Amino acid sequence: MNKVVVGAQWGDEGKAKITDLLAQDADLIIRYQGGCNAGHTVVANNKTFKFHLIPSGILYKGKTCFIGAGTVILPEYFDEEAGGLIKEGIDLSGLKINPLASITMPYHTEIDGFSESKAKKGKIGTTQKGIGPTYTDKYARIGLKVEDLYDEETLSEKLDIILPIKNKTLKEVYGLKTYTKDEVLNLCKKYAEIFRPYVCFDWQKVLEDAKEARKNILFEGAQGVMLDVDYGTYPFVTSSNPIGGGACTGSGFGPKMIDEVIGVAKAYVTRVGEGPFVTELNDETGEKIREIGHEYGVTTGRPRRCGWFDAVTMRYAVLTGGLTSVAITKIDVFDKFKEIKLCTAYKDIRDGRIYKNYPTNVFMHKYLEPVYETHEGWCEDISGIREYEKLPQNARKYIKRLEQLLGVPVSIISVGPDREQTIFVNPQ
Ligand code: IMP
Repeated sequence: MNKVVVGAQWGDEGKAKITDLLAQDADLIIRYQGGCNAGHTVVANNKTFKFHLIPSGILYKGKTCFIGAGTVILPEYFDEEAGGLIKEGIDLSGLKINPLASITMPYHTEIDGFSESKAKKGKIGTTQKGIGPTYTDKYARIGLKVEDLYDEETLSEKLDIILPIKNKTLKEVYGLKTYTKDEVLNLCKKYAEIFRPYVCFDWQKVLEDAKEARKNILFEGAQGVMLDVDYGTYPFVTSSNPIGGGACTGSGFGPKMIDEVIGVAKAYVTRVGEGPFVTELNDETGEKIREIGHEYGVTTGRPRRCGWFDAVTMRYAVLTGGLTSVAITKIDVFDKFKEIKLCTAYKDIRDGRIYKNYPTNVFMHKYLEPVYETHEGWCEDISGIREYEKLPQNARKYIKRLEQLLGVPVSIISVGPDREQTIFVNPQ
């Protein structure tokens, strides 16, 4: 079985835990997009591991973990992450980097930082890890790929094309420092050494063999459908395709290789950075969710914006993300809530128009208010429950309602951060 794990909201849905669980049965795990803008926390054997780019499946012995062609890699950050895992005694011999992955150069992070700090209007609230500028260069066909680092002659030729364009932009558009060819070549030498133990020039064979041997493949997405550059709340998005479809372009496997797409969603919604968020709660309830759910960013430490579950946006994510089932996480955060709200439609405050389908023009979202239905809480600790039937009736009712609204089954329920705190609904 080949499965994709996709964030179904604005990222931080608890994908790492679900990926970690599913990785147990996978032979090959491929992270298919994004870069170190992601922050994945996995709790295993009473230890907390924080991942940014390396697939968390590396915690299991004997798995092949790929950083796919669709990703962007900030070399120094990768080096730190890999070094940290080695220090913890984690074996990285199964870690491979696709040589087609893109490299984030210092000028990418500088442009990202500059754009965000100088922007008076239109700030995106990025993680400032150079993600947007790296993808911009990739699509402008002036980016550097990992494979470029290992052929000095062609790298030099490439830089003769790239650098004049980059330097002109750095100087004239941003007023930033320019780079000499020698400076960039020296950086590239350093990066070549950082990546050397992991670059897999034989990646086509690894993929072919996995296909032939019908190995179990897990495609690991970062961020979430609503941050997708094509389908998310554009322009308040990341610059890649976290949707299920992104698993193909980012991994090198075709669509027929995918059996299931599991969308991970919190029982509520969080968002970091700017952008619309119709069910956002700027009140005590939002604060309560943030505190109980520990809603602070792994990568940036920023407090996350919190709000009620939004079934309008989520139904849209089911469609565009290609989800076949949903994993609901952090439902235990509601253990002390007497009432739980669920947004089933939006109302336009200008004319009273009701939206049951997600309106994609996000600039009108400021005129939308959520239409809620209220569910009774269960008011008991569910973090120790491991079987669906043992969940309190009100929790099951809430889940059933979600399934009805979303049109796909809930396959996994997470009731705490630990691997064991998981309920598989109707396990095969
Ligand atoms: P960028 O990906 O750093 O360019 O940031 C673009 C938007 O995506 C910002 O709103 C970020 O806060 C958001 N973002 C990027 N990565 C993550 C993530 O892993 N979790 C949640 N939000 C993210």
